[in-house]
Order: sequence, then structure tokens, then C-alpha cells
Amino acid sequence: MIGRPKKKTKVDKPPTRGTTDRMKQYSAEYLAESFLEYYRQLGHTVVASAPLVPEDPTLLFTAAGMVPFKSYYSDPTSAPYARAASVQKCLRAGGKQSDLENVGRTLRHHTFFEMLGNFSFGDYFKKEAIDTAWDLSVNVWKIDKKRIWVSVYEDDDEAHELWAKRIGLPTKRIVRLGKSDNFWGPVGDTGVCGPSSELYFDTGAKRGCARDSCRPGCDCERFIEYWNLVFPQFFLSEGGDYDPLPKPGIDTGMGLERVAFILQRVEDNFHTDLFLPLRTAVKNALPGIKSSEHFELAVNAAADHVRALVFALSEGIYPSNDGRGYVLRRLLRRAVTKMHPFGVKKPFLSGAVDAVVDVMGGRYPELHQHRAGAKQIITAEEEHFLSTIEQGWNKLQEVIESSRKRESRSIAGKDAFVLYDTYGFPLELTAELAVDAGLTVDEKGYRVAMEEQRERSRKHYYATRTGGKRAGPGRGAEKPFVDVPGVATTAEDTEFIGYEELACEATLGRYRVPGEDVVEITTDRTVFYPVGGGQVGDSGSVIIDDERIDVVDAFREGGGIVHVLHWQNRRDDDPGKFLGANAAVRLQVDREVRFATARNHTGTHLLHKALREVLGDHVAQAGSLVAPGRLRFDFKHFRAIGADDLSRVEQMVNGAVLDDLAVTYEDVPYRQAIADGAMALFGEKYGDIVRVVSIEDFSRELCGGTHLKHTGEIGAFVITHETAVAAGVRRIEALTGRAALGYFRKVLDEQAKLALALKVSPGDLERRIRALQDENEALKKKLEERHSEQAAGELDDALEKAQDIGGIALVTFRSGTADLAALRRSGDHLRDRMDRGVALLCAGEAKKPIVLIVASDRLVKEKEITANRLARLIGAEFSLRGGGKDHMAQLGVRGPDEFDPIVSFVQSWLRER
Ligand code: SER
Repeated sequence: MIGRPKKKTKVDKPPTRGTTDRMKQYSAEYLAESFLEYYRQLGHTVVASAPLVPEDPTLLFTAAGMVPFKSYYSDPTSAPYARAASVQKCLRAGGKQSDLENVGRTLRHHTFFEMLGNFSFGDYFKKEAIDTAWDLSVNVWKIDKKRIWVSVYEDDDEAHELWAKRIGLPTKRIVRLGKSDNFWGPVGDTGVCGPSSELYFDTGAKRGCARDSCRPGCDCERFIEYWNLVFPQFFLSEGGDYDPLPKPGIDTGMGLERVAFILQRVEDNFHTDLFLPLRTAVKNALPGIKSSEHFELAVNAAADHVRALVFALSEGIYPSNDGRGYVLRRLLRRAVTKMHPFGVKKPFLSGAVDAVVDVMGGRYPELHQHRAGAKQIITAEEEHFLSTIEQGWNKLQEVIESSRKRESRSIAGKDAFVLYDTYGFPLELTAELAVDAGLTVDEKGYRVAMEEQRERSRKHYYATRTGGKRAGPGRGAEKPFVDVPGVATTAEDTEFIGYEELACEATLGRYRVPGEDVVEITTDRTVFYPVGGGQVGDSGSVIIDDERIDVVDAFREGGGIVHVLHWQNRRDDDPGKFLGANAAVRLQVDREVRFATARNHTGTHLLHKALREVLGDHVAQAGSLVAPGRLRFDFKHFRAIGADDLSRVEQMVNGAVLDDLAVTYEDVPYRQAIADGAMALFGEKYGDIVRVVSIEDFSRELCGGTHLKHTGEIGAFVITHETAVAAGVRRIEALTGRAALGYFRKVLDEQAKLALALKVSPGDLERRIRALQDENEALKKKLEERHSEQAAGELDDALEKAQDIGGIALVTFRSGTADLAALRRSGDHLRDRMDRGVALLCAGEAKKPIVLIVASDRLVKEKEITANRLARLIGAEFSLRGGGKDHMAQLGVRGPDEFDPIVSFVQSWLRER
């Protein structure tokens, strides 16, 4: 029995943005604080919110308050406290627990939300959970008890009786529901779970479906489930068994947005103090759109999604094409797409970032730091997507139309893939939009289309490696393997012994001939590492009957390892007979190549770790290439890495190289590897037993690649490039060993050459170059001065030689300059010095020769002749294009030869006047 708090739960009212009295009285901040205070007084340890990215790397997001505590239920002795309470930030978007599709349809679902929870780890159970939930609801918060309904799991008589007898709730307000409603968990595929009992608030018949049968469990908006009391009693094992827990516990979760809605007595969750400012900000960013039911729902979705985005970004999750980043991208694109029908073509979401930080920043101060970054990233993502949305939208309508014409009820997978690949519409978004049109999406076809595209790029890769002779590993479309004749055991699996050995004897298994000069063989065992985990396949040779044949690549197909032989001058078209007669072969990996590759692989692990140390734990591998000649590492990180950080990373790696740390391998159960803190790739499927590569205390990573024995063998490590590959993904390219030394030598040689040419020591290069640049500037200036002096002299000559035609001076001037601005200056110079005069200037040297015409102020004032009018006259006569102002106009001419005829034309024109 844990009773009730002795003191009346009293909380200093935090500041509120409330616009009504009830909003002020029951602000979200007050509700969160009073919840924690209530349970604190009942001996609960108040635990701060864990991050949205859970410790368990196989979970997408923290989707419930119990996630940080989940191991305590199966082993309460490991819990540092028997009771806990928290306000946990949660994200339910993507993965098993997703509410994403409901957001912007219902008025009560969110992707990001806050869950208030009290927890017992083998301590109190049902009675106390029900007692306190009732007491807090009715006596502290004063929710009208006549409007509270509850549900219990269909055969949970104990809970039913507690509500009916102990609390005294009329039995007609206690509803028994089945497994889909009242059995919770586990999070992930295995873990604790149990029956639950839920508290509902009846908002009244007006708000719902108006059916007589409407009760908790109905899909409509009338009964709002606000508090879920879970009674974790079982552990769902991998085999699908519900094993009873040694001691049951309690896990409750209440949606802060929902309880705020109930107590603030507003229209819905989106009009509470948590959301109202966000809605206002979204609308302010979209002026001039007429309100409608559809638009208001789209505003709700935008407000929800921008809040989720800001929180995720503040934890270093960035939009990308897979894993958590993909969910962010989906959220953003969904929000933008929902506004598309209202003609929104400009980024707007970032306009609500300030509102999110203002509303939530009090309880989550880390948001302030990420305000500017969040705006930048959101705007960039919006712009990116908006650049294709129009075409994507049209394509979608086309696809929907064609599905209708075919009388098909689904969108073809390859169309959905084009929508994603070309126009950036995530599959799930297309599926949602298809539902509105009464269609589904062929998801299997989508995956096939995606796989086909991967295959194309794989083929490209193999074609490159075999000099165009081999188009990549077979996928059924190619010739099947056949057994090498006469070989007794043709096991399909190949044993890989290449971690320890570089050469071995083996027996041939099967073969095929995919192309001219190329033969592929499998063997019963091999030392050749098959391409995988970013590391290229080994190369080397196979010796068959004293003939040495190049192996240019190796890859895995099913359980077998395929060796790609570049076999020129083969005797027979079908090598089967020859192979059958010589089935015992020797396989040999090229030692130098393997060793160079291992340097880069071990170097990659050091780099990964150093990046996390220097930039932060959000750095996660997004891809890598480990080849003999270089390494490339892609990772999640939003901005470019400064020179200082880059050099710290490089130094840290080289420090580990100099420390000559030992590299060891171990096969361990996956769970243990993760518990020991080994780095794993998010979204990767791992087996039960995994290989962990450890570099002493420096790094631990799940990895199947081939490595060095000591880091000292790397010799040297140097970063050569740092670039962006996609939004939120950076790429580092680096060299190790001989390649690194070669790189240093090359840079030093280049430097020495420069120093020699500039006749300074290398250390003085920068100073010398700057001095040369300054000198160059000064010379340029001087030269310009000279030019204009000279030009002024020439112009004065031209003025002197002016012809007087009926009281108007005609000045002509051919300039040597190609610079239009200089020609204009010359024009001004002449104009200032003419009384009633016209000047024709020609820039003959320019790529596009022009004739400039100026008319003096007095001529213009007298409205006799203007430069523009003259330009048009000349243009009409010579079919040239041009025009300008009264004082100055210009004409493009075909060549400097045209200047003289133009001058004659103007002369006669002036004479005729
Ligand atoms: N874990 C349960 C839920 O998410 C109760 O906290 O609803």
C-alpha cells in the first residue's frame, strides 16, 4: 500500500502562456510538475527524460516512458530504485509504434509527445497504480469523476474488481477490451509486456460518432484515452513464449497533451497552451489562405511535425535516406505535401521553430542552442523538396489516373519507386496519398524496383573492376553454376579461413562462364575475403595445374564464396573438363593488397572513433569504402568540419597509430556486444553471434572485415578530403601506409618546386605570395591611371578634330580598350566638353564590338537630337540592335569595319537636317 501523498500536492505555478483562466490554472508545465511532485511524495525517484535515441541501437526511437527502464522489469535487482516517475519525450513515427498516419486526421495523435509515467520495478502492483491514478485525476486535478470511464483486459477480473469495489466506479463505465486495446508491449520484438487498464475521459456525445454503442475503444473523438496503466507480467521471448516475470511491475503512461486538453477545456489537443502558439506561427508563415477544415488539419500536422523535427535535430538526428534520418525526412515532406493543395510553394515550417523553442525551451533548455541550426536545416530540406514537389505531384496524379484506367486498385511498385527516387516522395507518403484516392501501393514491387536499381550500380562496380569483362554477381538472370565434373563433394557452402591464412589448398566446387575471359569458381574453403561491410573483395591468384590465373574479385552468393577469375587464353570454351581433371587447387591472396586494405580498414575504425570523440556521439556511420588504395567514410553530421577539428581527428588517429594498440577479434552474442558498448550500424541485420573487433580500449565495433594485428602497422594516416555527400551526411577520404607517405612526399615536392620558383624557403612561401599579390594590385592601379591619362589626351585630340555640321559638332573616336566601362567614361568625358555636339565612339578590340553614341546636354535640352534617337536611326539603316538614354546609347556592331559607314551615315544625316 503506498497510500496518498500526506501533504496536499502543491506546486509553485510555473509561468504560462495561457490565454484563458483554465489554461493558466492547468498549464502543461503545471501538470507535468504536479505529476512528478505527487509521485515524488510517494517515494518515487524523479528521473529526467532520456534522449529520443534509445541506448538499444535496434530501436528506432524512444516511444514510451518505460523504454529507458525496460531491463529493470526482467531483473528488478538491477534497478537503482524500486519506484520512479518521469516526463519522457517520445517519438512515435516510423517503426512498429507509429502514429504518424493519424496526425492531421484525428485531433488526439502526435508523433512527438510527452509521456507522464510512474513505474514500479517489482515493488507495488495493480491496486496502488489504480488508487493513485484515480486520486491524482479526481482529487488533485479535479477531473469530473462522472466523466471518467475505464477499460480492463477482457479476463482481468482483478482489475475489474478494483475499479468496481475499491474505487466504486459504476460497472457500466468499466469496459472489457481485447488484446489489441488492452495488452501492451513489448517495445521491439521481445521484452516485457502485460495486460493494461486505461482511463478515458468522456467529452460528451456531441463530439463523437453519436452511435448508441459508442464506448471506450471506439475510434471516434468522444472518449479520450488519457492514461494507460500497464501491468508488466510477462517476457515475450524470441520463440514467442510469454514467460512470467519473477515479480510483476507497473508501467503507466499519460499523454501530457491529452490531459492538458481535458483540463484546459479547449477544442482539442492542438488548442492547448502546448500547441496554440505553434499553430499561430504556422498560420503567420502562410498568410492569405482561407480557413477550411482541411487547412486546419494540415496546420495541425505542420505544428506537430515541426515540433518533432526541432526535438530530433537537437539530438543530432538529421534528415537522410535511411534509419532515423529517413523518418525526419518523411515528417518534413509530409508537412510540406499537406500544404501543397493550398498553393504553398515556399518554405514555411522554419517559421514555427521559434514558437517551439519558446513553448518547450523552459523544460528542454537544450533547444535554445539548436534554434538557428534547426531553422537552417529545415529550410534547406524544404527548399530541396519544394524544387520537385510540383512535378512529383503531377506524376502522382498521372499514376493514380493510370491505375484507375487499368481498373487496378493499387499503384505499381515501379511508379512508387520513381516517385521516391526522382521526386523525393517517400513510399509511406505515396501510400498515404494513395489511400485518399482509394488505392494501395504495391510495396513488394517497390522493393523489387529498388533492388533492381542497386543491382545496376553493383553491375557498374564489377564492370569497372574486371575491365568491362564482368557485369556483377548473378541474380538468377545469369547462367546458373554447374558442378565441376567428377568432384565428389560439391558442398554449396565455402568455409572462410582468410582471417588467419593468406594461402590455402582447396577443392573446386562449381563454376560458370559469365563472359569472355571470365570464369567464376567456388571452392570448399577459401582465403579470399568476399566484398562486404564496405571492404572490397580480395584479389590474388589461383593455381590450377601449374597455371597461375588472376583472381580479380570475390563475393558471396548464398553460402558460397565466388572467385572471379580473369582467365585469358583459355584452351576450351567450356573449362569444365579441365577443372574436373584438376580439382585440387591452390588459392593465394595478394599479400600487399590485403595488407594495404587492412591498414585502411583498421584506420577506418580509428577514424570513426576519433570523429565521435571530437564531434560528438551523433556521428554515425552512413557508409564506407575500404579499398587497398584509399578509404572513404560517410557519416551523419550536419555541418562542414572546420580545419581545427579535422586536424584534431587526424592527430587522434595518428596518436593511436603511434601507441601501437593491439587489434583483437571475438565472437560474442549480439546482446552482449551491444551491452558492452560496441558500435553497431543502425538498421543493419546482425545474426545472434557477431564478430567484435576491438582496438584495446580505443574502439569496439561489430565488423566482419580483415584487420591488422597492431595499429602501428598503419604507419601513417592522413585526411585528404572532407566534403558533403547529401544533406546531413559528410564524407572523409583518407590514406594510410605507403599511400599516406606518398601523399606527404608529393605535397612536400610541390612545395619545394614552388619555393624554388619564388626563390624563398618553404616557410616563407605564404609571405612571398601575399607580397606578390600586393605588388600586382599596385601595378594594376598604376596601369589604369596611365591608361586614363593617355585616353584623356586622345579624347582631347578627337575634340579638336571635330567636324562642324550646321552648328553641331561631330566627334568620332576609336578606342583601343575592350572595357565597356572605360568606353562609357570616355563618352562622359566628351559629353562634358561639347556644347552642341554628338560623339560616336567605337570599341573595336572587344569580343562584341559596340558603337557608343553620346549627345551633349544642350542638344538634349533643346530636344533636337538624342543619343537614343540616333541609335535607332542607325539601327534601322544597318539592321543593328541597340538603344539607350537621351544622353548615351549603344549599338552592337558586327565588326569594327562597320564604324566608318556609320560615321558617314551620321554625317549625311546631320547635313540633310
Ligand atoms: N508503456 C505504456 C504506453 O506506452 C505505458 O507507459 O502506453
